[in-house]
Amino acid sequence: MELPWGALLLALLSVSSSSAVATLAVTAPPPAPARAPAPVTAPAPAHAPPQAQEAEGLLINGNFETAPRKVNKTLIVGRHSLPGWTLRGHVEYVSAGPQPGGMFFAVPHGVHALRLGSHASASQNVSVRPGSLYALTFAATRTCAQDEALRIAVSPSLSAPADVAVRTLYSADTADTWAWGFRASSPVAQVTFSNPGVQEDAACGPLIDAVAIKELPTPYPTKDNLIKNDGFEIGPQVFKNSSVGVLLPPKQKDVTSPLPGWIIESLKAVRYIDAAHFSVPAGQYAVELVAGRESAIAQVIRTVPNRAYNLSYVVGDAKNGCHGSMLVEAFAANVTQKVPFESTGKGGFKAASLRFVAAGVRTRVTFYSSYYHTKVTDGVSLCGPVLDQVKIVPMKL
Ligand SMILES: *[C@@H]1O[C@H](CO)[C@@H](O)[C@H](O)[C@H]1NC(C)=O
Ligand SMILES: *[C@@H]1O[C@H](CO)[C@@H](O)[C@H](O)[C@H]1NC(C)=O
Ligand SMILES: *[C@@H]1O[C@H](CO)[C@@H](O)[C@H](O)[C@H]1NC(C)=O
Ligand SMILES: *[C@@H]1O[C@H](CO)[C@@H](O)[C@H](O)[C@H]1NC(C)=O
Ligand SMILES: *[C@@H]1O[C@H](CO)[C@@H](O)[C@H](O)[C@H]1NC(C)=O
Repeated sequence: MELPWGALLLALLSVSSSSAVATLAVTAPPPAPARAPAPVTAPAPAHAPPQAQEAEGLLINGNFETAPRKVNKTLIVGRHSLPGWTLRGHVEYVSAGPQPGGMFFAVPHGVHALRLGSHASASQNVSVRPGSLYALTFAATRTCAQDEALRIAVSPSLSAPADVAVRTLYSADTADTWAWGFRASSPVAQVTFSNPGVQEDAACGPLIDAVAIKELPTPYPTKDNLIKNDGFEIGPQVFKNSSVGVLLPPKQKDVTSPLPGWIIESLKAVRYIDAAHFSVPAGQYAVELVAGRESAIAQVIRTVPNRAYNLSYVVGDAKNGCHGSMLVEAFAANVTQKVPFESTGKGGFKAASLRFVAAGVRTRVTFYSSYYHTKVTDGVSLCGPVLDQVKIVPMKL
């Protein structure tokens, strides 16, 4: 979905200094009706459903539309002032639009967001099922530095905290939406977003908005397909309002990935795309390989040594203005396949398959895009080929 702001954005970007970054609002839907502040959670009984009762899995006041009880200009005063959240450090309550000092904040969902200053944090306790896998979805954008990080930690859980590099590379004209997975290890999970960085200006730091949680089932291989979650249909919450997809940051293991079964490798994110806003070859979801060889997706399957298998998959384009000669590389055992796809940015896909012989009891299958692509509309937003319908079956002897 292209925005009428593109030209203005570029103008703003070209004059932005390191301390004033221009991003633009996408949709600024009317403010949500005020909700009664929800009480802070008491530990829930085991096996309680996730406590997010809000639409689309939002945490309590997950889009920050319920105002803090006390602010000094934009600074939130008091650790428990913001309904649903516990705050530490310099946290600002930000409204969409132009800011003092010439900045412009994109607030992706509703009109308010939180800005986490140096070492500041916001946390909420959520009821979860021990042992279950969850994906947190959240919108984030930078406000000052070229690279700001947002740290996500869930305590207790079996996942180490992760830092998401909040850049504006993935979608230049709006805040990005991200998802991160964790496996719960007790009935209450303390979800904390923090700014691990220190800027000259203590107020500087990432903006967060629209925090949601979704419990994910564990996928299994079937007798027709050794690949788990083969069509990427199991994945994080995708907001109906959001047309930018969900970025899945790198270094996520298959057991805690927001895309269950899949490992997100390398240095940069892959984008999870939905059929409502992108061209998806099959089902409701697929994956867009947005960062060339720096964003790979992999899965490890069980195999019988010396047995031959047929790996098949489809590649295409997301109908998001991503033009050019695309090339997807697939790796399985000692075999590599390069599949070209000519994208005119209008959607479409083709099937490919390759035969490999397993060397051991486990075989890793990996996909990445050989080339880097950016959208023709702005020349900076990363995009790339789409991958879907991955299938592996043993070949007849
Ligand atoms: C608001 O913040 C400013 C600057 O930090 C401080 O000087 C002032 O005393 C604060 N006002 C109140 C009412 O707390
Ligand atoms: C989506 O938009 C509607 C209306 O514009 C709004 O009420 C709702 O809160 C939005 N949802 C999210 C998750 O931001
Ligand atoms: C959230 O959970 C943590 C650890 O379980 C606890 O220390 C903290 O007091 C809880 N916070 C709230 C606001 O209930
Ligand atoms: C591999 O699977 C694909 C998709 O099912 C099929 O089109 C292709 O013919 C198969 N290749 C072989 C060698 O069986
Ligand atoms: C790949 O491995 C198979 C069996 O393990 C072997 O027969 C084949 O020659 C190897 N191919 C290459 C290109 O190394």
